[in-house]
Amino acid sequence: MKIGNKSLPEQYIIYGAMGLGGAWEEDTPITEAHIEEAHAALSTALECGISFFDLADIYKAGKSETVFGHYLKENPGMREKIIIQSKVGIRLTGAPFGSRFDFSYSHIIEATDGILKRLNTDYLDILLLHRPDPLMSRDELKRAIDELFNQGKIRALGVSNMDHHQIQLIESYTGRKIVANQLELSLLKTDFVASAVGFNNSVGKNLDFPLGTLEYCMLNDVSLQSWSPLARGIYSKQTIDESTPKTICQTKEILGRIAKNKGTSIDSIVLAWLMKHPSKINPVIGTTKPERIKNAVEAFNVQLTRDEWYELLVASRGQRMP
Ligand SMILES: NC(=O)c1ccc[n+]([C@@H]2O[C@H](COP(=O)([O-])OP(=O)(O)OC[C@H]3O[C@@H](n4cnc5c(N)ncnc54)[C@H](OP(=O)(O)O)[C@@H]3O)[C@@H](O)[C@H]2O)c1
Repeated sequence: MKIGNKSLPEQYIIYGAMGLGGAWEEDTPITEAHIEEAHAALSTALECGISFFDLADIYKAGKSETVFGHYLKENPGMREKIIIQSKVGIRLTGAPFGSRFDFSYSHIIEATDGILKRLNTDYLDILLLHRPDPLMSRDELKRAIDELFNQGKIRALGVSNMDHHQIQLIESYTGRKIVANQLELSLLKTDFVASAVGFNNSVGKNLDFPLGTLEYCMLNDVSLQSWSPLARGIYSKQTIDESTPKTICQTKEILGRIAKNKGTSIDSIVLAWLMKHPSKINPVIGTTKPERIKNAVEAFNVQLTRDEWYELLVASRGQRMP
């Protein structure tokens, strides 16, 4: 796949910068330690061969993009070598009813301008629409997206947390190809697999993934990105107690055995499991720790057998295949 003039390999790991920038509260300032942490994580990611970065205007109330922008400023020449993707469409209102979504013309334009300013760049390689806005208007969305493309502020459009019908609707509204869909997919969140094997049998009951979305993306070159691919460390954390679900204990045990046999880390097996799926899922890893970033990229060197892959799937679901 090509984004603007930049080529992407068939499968890759994306560094997710949600953890960078300090606290989520808007009024808590960025410290020197936050900047150092961000620089160490981003340098490690680049050294490990990661050149695709995922952000969002809401991460740490914009501070994630600010520390990223600081890194870009200190490393001139870097911008053209990397892919930067950010997201708009969620408003953290601070209102008692919580956050809401906003695909209005003015919000998309203002939010994207804010992103570019914080990142110290004049374009995004990809803009993702973060979560579906039920009040989305065809005319406003098209006008905003056309303007951003025409002004050279974005080079490609993608979505996040959307099914194939919503992707088709947005493609039709904007007249633009959707290049990526970012979803929560992991060894902990396996309904994307169960929806495919669960049709017409009990495995397919109460699933949190619509049958057809994966297939649509595969058939139409919509690259699949998985958020929380390490399941937020649930399998690699040391602590297990009587409250830990049996499925997690069993999966952790199997992961430990496979990792030991292959001489690698649990994190790399967790990612290798995800990346073995033929839809060529690209994990968006969110750890801020250089050591864990290094472990993650080891996933490219891990080959899981079919038996290992299915054993992990069955353990994680706590349910045999039909
Ligand atoms: N599109 C969306 O709606 C959406 C939603 C959520 C996230 N995202 C994107 O996806 C990226 C990844 O999400 P994520 O951070 O939830 O996923 P993740 O990569 O599964 O997990 C990373 C988190 O788990 C912690 N962790 C990992 N291994 C650990 C261990 N062994 N012990 C203790 N903690 C451990 C990390 O802490 P340390 O930093 O201490 O390692 C970090 O907080 C984000 O950065 C963001 O770019 C997108």
